[in-house]
Amino acid sequence: MMLLFLFLLSLVINISGLSLLKPVSILASLLISLELDYDQFSGSYDNINSNMLTKVLGIENLRTLIGNAAEGNTLEIGVGTGLQLPYYQYKNIISYTGIDNSVGMINQAIEKSQLLHQNNNNFIVMNADELKFDDNKFDSVVDTFSMCVYDNPLKVLNELKRVVKPNGKIYLIENSVSTNSPLRLLQNTLEPIITPMSKGCKWNIDVPQLAENTGLHELERKDFQFGTLFFGVYIK
Ligand SMILES: C[S@@+](CC[C@H](N)C(=O)[O-])C[C@H]1O[C@@H](n2cnc3c(N)ncnc32)[C@H](O)[C@@H]1O
Repeated sequence: MMLLFLFLLSLVINISGLSLLKPVSILASLLISLELDYDQFSGSYDNINSNMLTKVLGIENLRTLIGNAAEGNTLEIGVGTGLQLPYYQYKNIISYTGIDNSVGMINQAIEKSQLLHQNNNNFIVMNADELKFDDNKFDSVVDTFSMCVYDNPLKVLNELKRVVKPNGKIYLIENSVSTNSPLRLLQNTLEPIITPMSKGCKWNIDVPQLAENTGLHELERKDFQFGTLFFGVYIK
């Protein structure tokens, strides 16, 4: 029972980015209206989403996997403050484009890119479900932890499928609904309470199912924490 409680707690912390050490941010997250975009989180996002817990939960390892694999013309959607940026092997990347619909988040990503001396990285404010790119443009397309936030993740996945090259790859690290039935039921039941506490992240979306619905082909899949943390590689 205690283990289950601790697991659920780590799950909520994982998807919400809440820090046990920061009760004020917990309260703030509860009170903040999600009608606003991620600009409101841009200043504090890294403090609460790149802490020790991300190491313990294995998120760093997954970011490293994607960073090592991405190559060629690379697109990252929902780039946020650029937490994935330090993990790329830039020698393998011809061009990097990061998009997000929040100016505040993008500005943080630009700063991070400059600190990494990656001044050729390109950042654009853009809606992920209406990408302004030609078909078959990118060798690698990346999304980390943003799928649960998009209003229409299916539409976004269809956009990723459209812009990736026929031999290109789509890399995902996402919060997803559990593969364990009781936990899944709990997630579905608590979703209306948890989403406002988690910066709009719906913890019960089924990312592998959505990817299948778009007709993407799964090359690799790893489920962690009873499937609530999902890593997937796809081609079209
Ligand atoms: C939970 S954050 C994840 C950020 C980053 N990928 C990471 O791993 O930390 C979700 C991001 O998705 C962005 N976002 C939400 N809806 C979007 C949309 N429709 N189009 C583009 N970006 C969007 C938010 O502004 C935010 O930066």
